Amino acid sequence: MSSSINISILAIVIFPSLLFFLPRTIIAMLEPNSPKLLKNACIGYTKGWNSSFCLEIMKSNPQIVLAKDLLHLTLSIIETGLINAIKTQIYMEENRKENILESRRALDQCHNLYHHIIGVYKGALIHVEKQKLYDVAGAEFSIAANNAEYCENWLNIHDIIDTHISSGNKVIKYLSLTGYNAVNDLMIADWITKRI
Ligand SMILES: *[C@@H]1O[C@H](CO)[C@@H](O)[C@H](O)[C@H]1NC(C)=O
Repeated sequence: MSSSINISILAIVIFPSLLFFLPRTIIAMLEPNSPKLLKNACIGYTKGWNSSFCLEIMKSNPQIVLAKDLLHLTLSIIETGLINAIKTQIYMEENRKENILESRRALDQCHNLYHHIIGVYKGALIHVEKQKLYDVAGAEFSIAANNAEYCENWLNIHDIIDTHISSGNKVIKYLSLTGYNAVNDLMIADWITKRI
């Protein structure tokens, strides 16, 4: 009896001090449905990163906003990315015929790149949802972000101005990097759970 009281006293003393020392991202993970969850996912480390734009994309999908924890946030990001990538790819297919040969080549390259983006997002879905292979999913998000950037480069090289594809590229880039942040946090959370 006295030892169980001791343990609960210990827990009361240790737990808050543990919270005090945990980085802010971890605290956000412990607060379900917190706007901090979105804010942390939108922290950018690259030049020209726009956190407000990132939050705008995230908030455009209620599923992302309502995500009750980091796992559901990640899964919603993957779903949103998949839907967006498929839409952009369909748009490329529909507009391919109307294009002159030179720009068709760029469009074909983008189409291929989007084929890969869709593939890695499908992979990330399985790796996060079923296998908890967050590091693999992180690599997949980074491939997706790069591919969107390569597509944008192809458009630039061939002087193609297509706001539809460019905004698609931007959305994939932002979603992939937020996904990358989210799986990194999942990896840390997983590591802490195993330690406690
Ligand atoms: C960042 O994004 C917000 C929201 O879309 C926009 O209003 C703002 O102009 C952007 N800032 C820059 C520097 O591009």
